[in-house]
Amino acid sequence: MTRAIVYVVALGAFAAVAASELAHARGAPAAARQAGLPDGEGRAVVEKLCITCHGLDYIAPSQRTVRNWLETIELMKSFGAEATDEQWKTVTDYLVGYVAYLQANKATADEFAMLFRIDDKAAQGVVSYREKQGGFKTVDDLKKAPGLDGARVDALQARLLFD
Ligand code: HEC
Repeated sequence: MTRAIVYVVALGAFAAVAASELAHARGAPAAARQAGLPDGEGRAVVEKLCITCHGLDYIAPSQRTVRNWLETIELMKSFGAEATDEQWKTVTDYLVGYVAYLQANKATADEFAMLFRIDDKAAQGVVSYREKQGGFKTVDDLKKAPGLDGARVDALQARLLFD
């Protein structure tokens, strides 16, 4: 019994060390390690839940798309990250709303729907329009897509990728 507990504790310590070594091996500069996350609803929850095993620098400097983030969240769950359903929703909304990128020419309708907060039908319309147009080259092309709010496109500009 006691032995089993010692084993579990040791395993936990090992996982924490392994994760921090991984972060170290990636050579994240000290400044980036301390970089804050963008302001937004839910940031405090993310900061609290996602710091247990590695630095928050794992989150900020990346161009993960909406889909990548949904997958990453599942991956963290499989690594043992624990939160209530409500907290996971907050984490997902924060990462999608304030951190995730979108590849305008590759994103699925689901990704458009989540990032632009539009319904499925409108998002499907954006994808059909993209196919008809042969893709989007610029932010202005994207603004012409039916169902997308120009102001929201502008607000997201820094996280839209056109390659
Ligand atoms: C139980 C421990 C644990 C918690 C809690 C945790 N992670 Fe992780 N995370 C890991 C481990 C271990 C890795 C390293 C594995 C790897 O690099 O693929 C990792 C890697 C990552 C990566 C890099 C993945 C990649 O593909 O390179 C991201 C991004 C990430 N975590 C985000 C988060 C977010 C967001 C949260 C909060 C919701 C979180 N993590 C909470 C254990 C955890």
